[in-house]
Amino acid sequence: MAVTESDRRSEARAALPSRAREAMEQLNAEAGKLNIWLRTQANAPSQHPWFRETGLEVSGQLASGRVAANQMKAVAHRWRWQEIGPYLDRIAAIARDADVRPIEFADRQQFLLVNPGLGGRLQVASTIRCAISIYSPGDVAPVHVHAPNASRTILSAKGGYTTIEGERCEAVRGDLILTPNGTWHDHGNEDDAPVVWADILDFPLLEFLDCNWLDDEFHGAMVSNARAQTAHYAPGYSGKLYGQGGILPNFVARRRGFGHDTTPMFHYRGADIRSALEDLRHEAGDPYEGITLRFVNPANGSPVFPTLDYRAQLLRPGEATRFKRETANTFYIVLEGKGATEVGGQRFDWETNDIFVVPNFLWRRHVNSGAGDSVLYAVSDQPLFEKIGQYRAQGRLHEGAVEQIVV
Ligand SMILES: [Fe+2]
Repeated sequence: MAVTESDRRSEARAALPSRAREAMEQLNAEAGKLNIWLRTQANAPSQHPWFRETGLEVSGQLASGRVAANQMKAVAHRWRWQEIGPYLDRIAAIARDADVRPIEFADRQQFLLVNPGLGGRLQVASTIRCAISIYSPGDVAPVHVHAPNASRTILSAKGGYTTIEGERCEAVRGDLILTPNGTWHDHGNEDDAPVVWADILDFPLLEFLDCNWLDDEFHGAMVSNARAQTAHYAPGYSGKLYGQGGILPNFVARRRGFGHDTTPMFHYRGADIRSALEDLRHEAGDPYEGITLRFVNPANGSPVFPTLDYRAQLLRPGEATRFKRETANTFYIVLEGKGATEVGGQRFDWETNDIFVVPNFLWRRHVNSGAGDSVLYAVSDQPLFEKIGQYRAQGRLHEGAVEQIVV
């Protein structure tokens, strides 16, 4: 880590005669009862200026002392499917023989991914939560609506459903099913084998903003006593309305549910995503990302949620992207293939269904080391950072020089 001018200044301050500081610290013991703090440390931000640091090692280290108290920083991390996946079978086995089914007391059968840098909080980055859920045959998550934007990335081959605002979406591996904020939705499995998917939400952001709520007092039509809403559109409704690029139906409201700035298309099919990537495989792509597609609100091209951007990324055999770093966080699920991501000086090998997170500020690049294609699904909070005027990105050229991608 390079020593910066502010490091030099704080060292100089620390060396100053400290009788006055000691006197103030004594006063602080008393003043704390009044919920005030007498400043005895510089008003330094908690992190170094990430964009100036040129090495590949970790950027954005936390400061120490009272200034940085209670601040936490997500770290780069990979969850190996081989290690975490069996817990789904184990919780499903407990449910089969349970006196009280876990879904009754836990509401869901799932495990949540916990970033080791965030003190046990149920989140993978500052804005993103991820849970891996299993629905055994007959399981239902009753209809509800909430403030967070949420999605499902389907990992099992086939089976299970999510109904959103009357549209039933049958889940198939590789599908992305969206439940935007303000949409009534329920999940379940009426097939004969368990289904598994990854739920990804902007839940931590809503909690931080103290704006998180959930309502389950649904007053629409329900399927008998199953606590699931009745589907009143034919299967594939999203695709019929919005599945053809450049053509929009002119007779429906763009807003579905009562959320704002969210996509009216709820279901993006894995087969369509894979074939769109395939069609583009001979393009040059982006040196930092390879061949990528964004899932957008088809009515206006904006991100599907105001906070999160969803992407699919094809890395061809032997392809290695250049290093890039951003102020935004990115969370990845490996849908296909084998490779590695180097991030903040660490290397994370991955294979199908592995999951990893690249927190902001860290240099990262992807390498497809397998014989076949690799497909990653990525979720980024870039739209949020753009909206608050804080999105910046840099790229690293082969010679190590830094290129400003977004200043
Ligand atoms: Fe939900």
